[in-house]
Amino acid sequence: MHPFIQTLKLIASPTKFLDECAVKYGDIFTVRVLGINSPPVVFFSNPEAIAECFAIPANKLNFKKATHVFKPLFGANSIVLKEGKEHNRQRNLLMPPFHGDRMKSYGETICEITTEVTKDWQAGKVISMQHVMPDITLQIILQVVFGISPGERYQQLKKLLSVLLDDITTPWYSSLFFFPPLQQDFGRFSPWGNYLRRKQQIDNLVYAEIGERRKANDISRTDILSLLLSAQDENGEKMTDEELKDQLISLLLLGYETTAGVLSWLFYLIYSQPQVRNNLIQELETLGENSNPTQITQLPYLSAVCQETMRLHPIALICTPRMTKETVEIAGNKFMSGTVLVPCIYLAHRRSETYPEPDNFIPERFLNHKFSPVEYLPFGGGYRGCIGSAFSMYEMKLVLANILSQFQLELIDNQPVKPVRRGITIVPSGGVQMRVQTKIPAKNLVHS
Ligand code: HEM
Repeated sequence: MHPFIQTLKLIASPTKFLDECAVKYGDIFTVRVLGINSPPVVFFSNPEAIAECFAIPANKLNFKKATHVFKPLFGANSIVLKEGKEHNRQRNLLMPPFHGDRMKSYGETICEITTEVTKDWQAGKVISMQHVMPDITLQIILQVVFGISPGERYQQLKKLLSVLLDDITTPWYSSLFFFPPLQQDFGRFSPWGNYLRRKQQIDNLVYAEIGERRKANDISRTDILSLLLSAQDENGEKMTDEELKDQLISLLLLGYETTAGVLSWLFYLIYSQPQVRNNLIQELETLGENSNPTQITQLPYLSAVCQETMRLHPIALICTPRMTKETVEIAGNKFMSGTVLVPCIYLAHRRSETYPEPDNFIPERFLNHKFSPVEYLPFGGGYRGCIGSAFSMYEMKLVLANILSQFQLELIDNQPVKPVRRGITIVPSGGVQMRVQTKIPAKNLVHS
């Protein structure tokens, strides 16, 4: 198949494209999908091959060349495009706020934001989970990254980010990212010109926040922007405004639509299987009122439901693509320098050898068995694995538990949904429309 057609197929219906390739070619296959004159791109779904891929030392791989499609979105200074020492440094800087006690300190905030966003849900109200969930997760990530609550700048950011993500979801708009020759600014009515102007509006809002924070110089704050503002490299240099802006936008984009997408899948899957929902409610009732966030997030069935949701419908289909700088061997195959290697999360999660009945939603499989990090990898793995994995698991469990214990809901339409692309994530088609049946009075899961 011509590289252009392969790329369009991957953009327009990625899961179908991957399923077809796996049926035709098995668990290691090569396609050409990174634009015109693209290098060979090899997808792996076999756990041993994925393990070998993760084990290749970073100095034998080039990440920038394989992730160039993200540059216009995240910016050249984003952690996603960094390599070697600098990448390591950024990870070490950004990881702590998303783990351990720092992460747990957000438990009550997560529950408060969820309660606030859902406060006007009354019996009969119709809700689109695809709209409400990003509202919750964006507020949460803004608290973590900027330490700010909703205000005018927040509202503007939310609107601009959401519209931009809607647009880059269309096959035509996304093609612009894959084919650099189409990236021509012919004024605001041209597609790329329009993209650049809207991205600039987002950048300006972030620059304004950075400017204010530099001026205020408040050393008591613990959010990520404050951390980055005081960080220095080994030569004592601080980050420029542009570096800060790229890092912050990357965290915003990677940190809210992803968790919101999983939450939409969770509501769809839980409410299309009444037994799963009943089991969850029963488990939540064992906690009683005023439990703490840690108790909630440790519930085994709730954890299994979240894990199985991300197995069946991983929000990111692939790990970060990596280009070889020299010949490497994986699963007995030699790959020449210049080959792009892609551990494929989606196909690894659909292997019947690992997961019997792979197309069915069976949370119990996570109660009875522990899968290895190369069999189950919704957050990728190795030295490029997601830095927000623990945080988003913590967050999604609290948001879900909070809503389940406050409302009885129903799906408006019982038709099966399809996985569709939204920006860089794969979400349920149709937005998951639900109706509030009852509001359960004065139930407060978390003690504040
Ligand atoms: C359910 C939610 C999420 C999912 C499914 C998810 C998934 C992923 C995946 C698959 C990768 C690529 C990993 C690899 O190449 O091996 C990744 C990378 C990344 N994620 Fe997440 N993510 C989620 C939430 C978050 C959150 C909340 C943040 C924090 C703001 C975040 C920040 C990042 C960053 C910075 C990277 C790049 C890491 C690097 O290149 O070193 N993600 N994520």
